[in-house]
Amino acid sequence: MNKQHEPMEKQVTRETFSTSLAVFFATLGSAVGLGNIWKFPYMTGMNGGAAFILVYLFFVLLIGIPIMVSEFYLGRKTRKNAVGVFDVLKGPKSFKIIGYMGMVSAMLIMFFYSTVAGWVYSYVVKTIRGDFRFLKDLSITDAKAQTTAVFDATASGIEPMIWQGLAVIVVATILMLGVKKGIERVTKTLMPVLLTLIILIAIRAMFLPGAAEGISFLVKPDFSQLTTSSILAAMGLAFFKLSLGMGTMVTYGSYFNKENNLVGTSFKVAFSDVAVSILAGLAIFPVVFTFGLAPEGGPGLLFNTIPLVFSLLPLGNLLLVSFFVLSAIAATTAMVSMVEVPVAIFTEQFKINRKLSVVMITSVMFIIGVLTTHPDALFGYVRINGMNLFDSFDYLASNVLMPLGGLLITIFVGYYVKKNHILAELTNDGQVGNPKLIGAYHIILRYITPILLIIVFLNAMGLFS
Ligand code: TRP
Repeated sequence: MNKQHEPMEKQVTRETFSTSLAVFFATLGSAVGLGNIWKFPYMTGMNGGAAFILVYLFFVLLIGIPIMVSEFYLGRKTRKNAVGVFDVLKGPKSFKIIGYMGMVSAMLIMFFYSTVAGWVYSYVVKTIRGDFRFLKDLSITDAKAQTTAVFDATASGIEPMIWQGLAVIVVATILMLGVKKGIERVTKTLMPVLLTLIILIAIRAMFLPGAAEGISFLVKPDFSQLTTSSILAAMGLAFFKLSLGMGTMVTYGSYFNKENNLVGTSFKVAFSDVAVSILAGLAIFPVVFTFGLAPEGGPGLLFNTIPLVFSLLPLGNLLLVSFFVLSAIAATTAMVSMVEVPVAIFTEQFKINRKLSVVMITSVMFIIGVLTTHPDALFGYVRINGMNLFDSFDYLASNVLMPLGGLLITIFVGYYVKKNHILAELTNDGQVGNPKLIGAYHIILRYITPILLIIVFLNAMGLFS
């Protein structure tokens, strides 16, 4: 008899990534996002440079890697989506809430992340068109006023809604093509482009008069700047940066091939992600200091400071185009991994075909996003606790749902899964890895990560401020 006709178990053919390199680029594509550009470099500069990076790496080891490994474990062991995992594994079914919370987080994040991605897309076009070329003929004050005006125009009226729609359509198209032809092919093509561009821009920045000052702002170790709040920030960042706590790494892990070394992949992704963040800082701050500006973080850095300072350099427009292209890649591959969480749940749990799932999910993301996250949108005026909806979605997902999801994942893998099952999966049945290291991971996962996550959570809820 043909195996495919076995009556009992209806085996749904499930796609996987083809090689370990594909796994690496897809996962790095999720981790590398706007966080590397507008969060990490600025936070590092303001919190003691290399001292902060050390603290960050410490939390990557204690929070980031243990949770990432756990998510990979859940995904690859069961080959299921973030909800389906808990149908298969022994343990309380109530942990399915992790998957549903992940689905909600993906929605909430997409509402505003696609808005920002839209701004980035529009800046790709604006820089290609040379909209910022004239800045070099103005005084710094006038040029600053101009970049602010361009950004205000980009973010208001109908224009950003159209760009947001485009960003959602790009993500939907990639996802409809599937895991191999969509996610794998796109990340394998674009991540090397992103890495090349960021290296080139960083090298260019090294030759500027402000290079020494910029580098020193970023990496000069200053342990006196390490306050309680910067340590708490490093903890939260280790978690957010690596796209943890919402089932993204469970879902991607379910597409890993069985030769993949899960622990090795976690280390490689975490360290490459830090490298990208540091390169971004090395690319940005020398330019900022060369023109005597104050470093800034957040959207202001990407949409005001960067167009301003880069356009003042020789060949600056080329650098600007490169910078926004790489930001667009970062935002797009991160969104793809986010939306794949609900897509996998819809196709496998609710048995809706992939294309229809993608259309339904991305339509809801676009419609709610477009009505809520723009100042001129129908619900743009709504405030919750003084926060607009854009910030409220971010708060709810990043500060509440994701740390909670991370905590539940830690508890499930740390306390409900047998240690020898973990060891077997993480060593590929004794083929790869170091059992001692995995033993250490298990202890950290049980006793340290949950406590740190509770601290992250309480801090994010504002209990320590
Ligand atoms: N890691 C992404 C960044 O640095 C942000 C992020 C958090 C994310 N959680 C995610 C991206 C889930 C994709 C999926 O910008």
